[in-house]
Amino acid sequence: MSVASSNERPWWFEPLSIVVVLSGFSIYAIWAALQGQGAYHNYLSPFFSPKLASPFSWFSPAFLILWVPLGFRATCYYYRKAYYRSFFWDPPACARPELRGEKYSGETKFPFIINNLHRYFFLLATIVLAFLWYDAILAFFFKDGSGNAHFGAALGSLIFLINVVLLSLYSFSCHSLRHIIGGKMDCFTCSLAGGARHKTWGWVSILNERHPLWAWLSLFSVLSVDIYIRLLQAGLIQDVRFF
Ligand code: FES
Repeated sequence: MSVASSNERPWWFEPLSIVVVLSGFSIYAIWAALQGQGAYHNYLSPFFSPKLASPFSWFSPAFLILWVPLGFRATCYYYRKAYYRSFFWDPPACARPELRGEKYSGETKFPFIINNLHRYFFLLATIVLAFLWYDAILAFFFKDGSGNAHFGAALGSLIFLINVVLLSLYSFSCHSLRHIIGGKMDCFTCSLAGGARHKTWGWVSILNERHPLWAWLSLFSVLSVDIYIRLLQAGLIQDVRFF
């Protein structure tokens, strides 16, 4: 039996990479949240957006927000496939046997039944995304010595913009959104606004084909924004101002 995939990587390469990346991201997100703040001048870390006041001094406001994007990703159809295979070996790859046999109950029992809430997490994550767009716009406005904000651009502004575009591509390529728009319809031409829905469904379908790519790129872009802000805060780098 072959132990290598068609591109000659061993079958365990992908599951192992996913375990490393998702575990690393989760540990970093918790660490960043525990820092209690993530802002530098006009830049606000996505882990702390929207800006909320914590009810207790010892409780990081990031925890009031993080459950939305993390819940959105944890219940995402693509990530489900990825972590079921990688963390639970359920099964670990195509053409590999199930390890849990009869005990497998899929998403019919707690805790995995929660994954059926994905469409609601999509709606909540869309609200958070609107705040991230607002933050990305603010990243293009810099205060002068007298406190007036002026339009400008710096490396940080561009990192914010790339991040929010990638997050939008990830959100709007969501399988649930595609289903909401047209997945449950038998006939577009006989439905209200069927033409517009069919067009929108077509666009979402094009984005949807690359959903795993947007999932990973947006994960790294969120990480990059937070790391960039922390490096600025620590004085280890200077923001490069273009104009
Ligand atoms: S399926 Fe991945 S975000 Fe909805």
